[in-house]
Amino acid sequence: MSSVVEILLCLLGLLGHVSVCVAAVNRIQGAVADHSFEKLLKRSVYLWALLGLVLPFFLMWRSAESVTPWQVVARQLVADWGYFTLATAWLVVVAIRRLAQQFVDRCPDSWAITQTEVLHISEEAAKESEDNYYPEANRSFLLTLAGNQVGQLEVNRKTLYLPQLPSKLEGLTITHFSDLHITGVIPQVFYDRLCDEILELDSELVFLTGDILDVPSKLPWVSRLARRLTTSKECYFVLGNHDVRHGQDEKLRAALVAEKCVDLGSTYRHVDIRGEQVLLAGNELPWIGTAPECRPKSNEFAIGVVHTPDLIGWGRQQDYDLLLAGHAHGGQIRIPGIGPIICPSVHGVRYASGVFRKGRTLMHVSRGISGLQPVRFRCRPELTQLTLRRPDRQ
Ligand SMILES: [Fe+2]
Repeated sequence: MSSVVEILLCLLGLLGHVSVCVAAVNRIQGAVADHSFEKLLKRSVYLWALLGLVLPFFLMWRSAESVTPWQVVARQLVADWGYFTLATAWLVVVAIRRLAQQFVDRCPDSWAITQTEVLHISEEAAKESEDNYYPEANRSFLLTLAGNQVGQLEVNRKTLYLPQLPSKLEGLTITHFSDLHITGVIPQVFYDRLCDEILELDSELVFLTGDILDVPSKLPWVSRLARRLTTSKECYFVLGNHDVRHGQDEKLRAALVAEKCVDLGSTYRHVDIRGEQVLLAGNELPWIGTAPECRPKSNEFAIGVVHTPDLIGWGRQQDYDLLLAGHAHGGQIRIPGIGPIICPSVHGVRYASGVFRKGRTLMHVSRGISGLQPVRFRCRPELTQLTLRRPDRQ
């Protein structure tokens, strides 16, 4: 075997090792509700990620022959077998499954994007103001990276086609936004501008699907946003995992309710929209509360509001027509030709963002507005207006 082939095989084995570690982190973040336990498990994976890089050197030291670390890995892949053989096999399985999922999950007849507008909020605000746009005290080096799309906002208008949509709800507009992750790193002017855009969309319903606040001292920012939104609109919300981490989730919930936002956490309500009864049900699992047991009455249109798209199975089981989710941030970093890598979900990156159909349930996953880390590459923050239509009105 030539050294070039050995090095290429070694790189393949190491890539397999990285894919094993990334898959483990994604599943831990998606499935473990307790944050301390989640952190412990993630640290174990990071340690294993590091050890995997040292493993070829250890095996070289144990070998009786004189071999290089890349020869050790390459031999595992072609002649012998060991951890790197399994890791490479895992990488191949992941690649095949990802390709198959993209084929299975495509539902082009169920939705269409009708308009996209990109707002460069940070650039515009920086031009208008003498002051620095990002507050000096909280400035992260990530904000200085070329190509980082934090500070931008993509306003998307999408049409969803639902065969079971009652005729009275034809053309119903819904604004869906998620994952504000208010920390103070992104200035308040950004959230003010976001609020302007939501008001301009002028949808009949507004849904916020969790991860609203990361730093409790910024609670007044949430109240200000909620106050402006509810002056003319019904705004419904559920909380997410980051809203629980700081232990102030009940205070946050109370602040939103005080501004007349409607709390759907672990509960449901039947509301009258255009003279049609619609079921709205919220589920904050696996972090908070319980799943509300409420199936739609016969012919009743039902919307499920959740934080994690992992609840798509629940939505389908409950016979909901539409499920709104966030949590995954679209992966935050998307690699050309590959897509997102990191996604806190038991399904990996499958439901990172977009529209998915399972049975009668159509799920919209928002890329969200922000993230705990202010980094976005090829994955702009997203605000969406959904228009519901019957397929025969295409
Ligand atoms: Fe989030």
